[in-house]
Amino acid sequence: MRPYIIKIDPYNIDQEALNRAAEIIHNRGLVAFPTETVYGLGADATDPKAVAGIFEAKKRPLDDPIIVHIAEIDDLARVSEKAPPLAYKLVERFWPGPLTVVLKKTDIIPDIVSSGLDTVAVRMPSNEIARGLIKAAGVPIAAPSANLFSRPSPTKAEHVLNDLEGRIDMILDGGPTEIGVESTVIEVIGSEVNILRPGGVSVEDLRRMTKNVNVPSDQWHQERSPGKYPQHYSPQAKIVLVPDRPDQDEKVMSYVAKIKEQNKTFGIMAKQEHEDRYRGFNVKILGPGRDSRICASRLFSILREFDKEEVDIIIAEGIPEKGLGLAVMNRLRKAAGPVEMFFNIFHNPQE
Ligand code: TXA
Ligand code: MG
Repeated sequence: MRPYIIKIDPYNIDQEALNRAAEIIHNRGLVAFPTETVYGLGADATDPKAVAGIFEAKKRPLDDPIIVHIAEIDDLARVSEKAPPLAYKLVERFWPGPLTVVLKKTDIIPDIVSSGLDTVAVRMPSNEIARGLIKAAGVPIAAPSANLFSRPSPTKAEHVLNDLEGRIDMILDGGPTEIGVESTVIEVIGSEVNILRPGGVSVEDLRRMTKNVNVPSDQWHQERSPGKYPQHYSPQAKIVLVPDRPDQDEKVMSYVAKIKEQNKTFGIMAKQEHEDRYRGFNVKILGPGRDSRICASRLFSILREFDKEEVDIIIAEGIPEKGLGLAVMNRLRKAAGPVEMFFNIFHNPQE
């Protein structure tokens, strides 16, 4: 069974299509829809049976809680207890947009959404198709990224179809998403903001609003956030991540030599600056290293393109961790998996 795919022009949204999608939501169905970050897989957040369907379709473990999407700031009071003043100040500044805030939940949110925690992650997306759907449904919508668990998040309707064909009821195709990495997830404790997942709102942007923004290491994230799985956002190919430093291109070429020795196929995800350096190889350009917005918007799509070509290894050039570069590098490190996997590729623990 193919899901029912409806193309929607984001500049001229067809209300009838949104109404049909809302009806599916009311009937406990699953609708994939675009947000400004990535495509989400939505169900009625107040209905535990509907939300159970999301976990099943994605093959997502039940201990990984789901973000609840609302259409208006006023809807916040339905899903969460009163937000602390700093949290409220931040949502007023960054909503609608790619910021998710973890707050105390109300009883309307069933345990399955929050994986048994007494908190709920809430976000108000800026994408008008997403907001239109939430409004048409008249309920908050629980939606993780619309990919199979552990695969790269979908930035196009086609990615959703590749992962979830036959497992969901409808896809609203609003074209490629703008930002390309998921929202920034934060918790606010008193006057401190802890970043639980870097994303579409940069740390620099948050720091313009408040002093105490803590950016823990990737290691900390894995221990602290629910759903701590070592490998995430992964294509089928193994990823070798080459840090952003002056001899980056030489390092890439040394890996190319090793991979060739082993008769493996590979692709290089490179910064624009190095395009000429890798002529003759299978290269996809992430973007200019200094333009983290472009890099973020292409990241997941490139990983999926390499998978289609069935390359064994993706050599990925890292970019500076500024702006959205922090989120890009966080996803790449998770996709690359633990360091040991990388050693297994080369059988050379000295590297
Ligand atoms: O941009 C996005 O955030 C996209 C779009 C669809 O909105 N959604 C998304 O959802 O990326 P998902 O499920 O792939 O990632 C949500 C993450 C979870 O892995 C979890 O770590 C964190 O948000 N999260 C959810 N509820 C939480 C809670 N109550 N406490 C702490 N972290 C939570
Ligand atoms: Mg996800």
